[in-house]
Amino acid sequence: MEEEGTTPAISRKTLLKAAFIAAPVPLLATGAPALARTVWAEGGPLEPTPFCEDGDDPTIPQTEGPYFKPNSPRRSTLPGSGTPLVVSGFVFGLACQPLANVLVDFWQCDTNGNYDNRGFNFRGHQFTDAQGRYQLTTIVPGLYPGRTRHIHVKAQAPNRPVLTTQLYFPGEPRNNTDTIFDPRLLMTIRTVGGRREGTFDFVLNVAGQPTPTGSPTPTATPTTTPPGGSWAPGTAYTAGVTVTYGGATYRCLQPHTSQAGWEPPNVPALWQRV
Ligand SMILES: [Fe+2]
Repeated sequence: MEEEGTTPAISRKTLLKAAFIAAPVPLLATGAPALARTVWAEGGPLEPTPFCEDGDDPTIPQTEGPYFKPNSPRRSTLPGSGTPLVVSGFVFGLACQPLANVLVDFWQCDTNGNYDNRGFNFRGHQFTDAQGRYQLTTIVPGLYPGRTRHIHVKAQAPNRPVLTTQLYFPGEPRNNTDTIFDPRLLMTIRTVGGRREGTFDFVLNVAGQPTPTGSPTPTATPTTTPPGGSWAPGTAYTAGVTVTYGGATYRCLQPHTSQAGWEPPNVPALWQRV
């Protein structure tokens, strides 16, 4: 089988700096980078998901590997035998605004390390929903010579350039020897029963204003009638404290400094209704 990306001595140019590994990740013990939503909640900067490629033009055709095929079927479930895997997350812009209708195209090898180059097994594209979410139901890809375990992906916001990259699994021995592997592209993986659950947030180079995930549409929150309560923007909240907002009580889940748009009902990652 043809190996991909085994060109030696290539100094991989990360075209865009990744802030993930520079940001504090105290909650993660897996060595995986923090999810973008966590970095944002902690006040860290977001920068685009790094291209998993060599920056030199001649090597660009290798970045997506030899097995990409256009016109994959639109589906979020890639059927086949193997260890079940569900990968989910968000696609954000630079201001952590969820990006809807992002084309996310996945392809991977089967459990034996083979790509389907005749048909479209383990290939499929989907679009992020209004909250910028995607979810892929598949299997854990196998291994093939020259590479560590990975899933290929292209992500493209409407009328924006395509990001071509790959997702990786923590704890893989070959992560140490694969010259393409980049720890900034590690998923957070957990095992639930007999299946794996992976999470990864993409950040595309799309400017915008922050819109907390799960926030209602602008028309759903009348700005002329402040709901009131003890919650206030610009306040440093610690985990465990409770506030009131809109007649309800919320408990802080993780320390952060509040800001307009992060009202408790809008940010379930920060506030839990009690
Ligand atoms: Fe591959």
